[in-house]
Amino acid sequence: MSIAASTAWKTLSSHAEAIASHHLRDLLNDPGRCRAMVAEAEGITLDFSRQNATAETVKLLLDLAEEAKLRAKIEAMFRGDRINTTEDRAVLHVALRAPQGASITVDGVNVVDEVHTVLEKIRGFSDRVRSGEWKGATGKPLTDVVSIGIGGSYLGPEFVHEALRTDPYCAQAAQGRRLRFLANVDPIDVARNLEGLNPETTLVVIVSKTFTTAETMLNAKTLRQWLVGSLGPESVAKHMVAVSTNLDGVRDFGIDPANAFGFWDWVGGRYSVCSAVGVVPLALQYGMDRVEPFLEGAHAIDRHFLETPFERNLPALLGLFGVWNSTFLQRPDRALLPYCQALLKLAPHIQQVDMESNGKRVGLDGHALPYPTGEVDFGEPGTNGQHSFYQLLHQGRVVPADFIGFTRSQTPVSVEGEAVSNHDELMANFFAQPDALAVGKTAEEVEAEGVPAELVPHKVFPGNRPSNVLLLDGWLTPEACGKLLALYEHRTAVQGFLWGINSFDQWGVELGKVLAKQVRSQLSASRKESAQVEGFNPSTTALLRKYLGA
Ligand code: F6P
Repeated sequence: MSIAASTAWKTLSSHAEAIASHHLRDLLNDPGRCRAMVAEAEGITLDFSRQNATAETVKLLLDLAEEAKLRAKIEAMFRGDRINTTEDRAVLHVALRAPQGASITVDGVNVVDEVHTVLEKIRGFSDRVRSGEWKGATGKPLTDVVSIGIGGSYLGPEFVHEALRTDPYCAQAAQGRRLRFLANVDPIDVARNLEGLNPETTLVVIVSKTFTTAETMLNAKTLRQWLVGSLGPESVAKHMVAVSTNLDGVRDFGIDPANAFGFWDWVGGRYSVCSAVGVVPLALQYGMDRVEPFLEGAHAIDRHFLETPFERNLPALLGLFGVWNSTFLQRPDRALLPYCQALLKLAPHIQQVDMESNGKRVGLDGHALPYPTGEVDFGEPGTNGQHSFYQLLHQGRVVPADFIGFTRSQTPVSVEGEAVSNHDELMANFFAQPDALAVGKTAEEVEAEGVPAELVPHKVFPGNRPSNVLLLDGWLTPEACGKLLALYEHRTAVQGFLWGINSFDQWGVELGKVLAKQVRSQLSASRKESAQVEGFNPSTTALLRKYLGA
């Protein structure tokens, strides 16, 4: 039976109509409600009092969690059950940050032991590169790293790199080193990555779970050509290493598997930043001692997620309200608004985590779903977003938002004579925006300011626009970054579990790849043998002819 046929679902649907009569302007005046709609864990305060919701809504959402067997599904994931049914795989990114000595078994093997063996190998390798013991082909230390990968083999590592870059301890550890990411197959990305780099001092890390992704393989060959052209074929052994589950592919490419860091098929690409995918480039840049707290932060949220009742469970609450907003209140978009410049790559990373996971059309049983799943995620750090798309958030469409802020800055600064420090200035905006969205401004209030009648409607803010406020203790440390990552990974899982979909496959990305292959063959044949364009529809045929100048 589809969950949409359950009493819990139907009751929530009727409740969604009833909630329209409660404006957040009034709901926020209730101190008891404000107190009740806050949950705190692991140094994170989640205030969900600006959701279009009452205590009754929370109760009904918890009923839905019960109906969807959310607890059992979470436990199955942590246990290593093969919940990714269309690929017959376990989903165990939580094992990547489990402490040494923990036990999670897949096919009779304790995968946590394997995880720690790879982490130790990364520690040894990154220490040797960072200390200069591992030298390049001409005897120079390797100070620059280009990490080649795309999708999950890029977005998570770049998100964490940006988050750590200005943490004072990480910045110190990274002195004299550079880390860059090459993802796009666009040669412009190659040119930008290589700007100012010297092959003699550059290490290339090829990151690809499958080691077959077209963009990554071409970029890897392009950088191999760059290295070999300058340093000769022997340089590959010292200047190229790989991260993959496909060690045969690594060998065929010409990299000694001894210089490869493995992971496992139970790590989904978009959930792989805590594997060698993220840990190799990050440890090279910051050292393993700075990366470990990131893994520990993620693990702290894993435990919280597994062990805490849903009414106080941060990822569960985020996920439940995500479903409430997107499915029941029919608001398909979601804005991620970190008031922290170092989180500038949070939204692009969570875009893949969430949209590749939950943008599905059928349930686990293969039947078309009677409701849409997934959300359209976008975001930008505050205050930049305020001067860009917030106009639409305030007076245009209703877009549920997550505001994320920190009690301290990674890089505090004050200007003499200013009323507040620069971080306080940032945070003044952080606290103001959720209320502006929720409370708004009535025509009466605008009129009372003496605004000319014809301008009044333009200056009215309807309000009643939902948001979460996430306030984190301290500054954005590696540990806090790990916590945020796990929070959003599990939020996505909760939503998928409630919708009854497989959040861990991604068949939707395949068709475009197949068609690109056909176009690639055509381009090659036309360029090399002047072959006529054929086998495409009239529109594509005309476009290809124009492109080829045919
Ligand atoms: O875009 C599809 C995808 O398969 C993602 O899921 C994955 O993160 C990305 O391609 C890269 O894949 P790989 O790590 O195998 O190169």
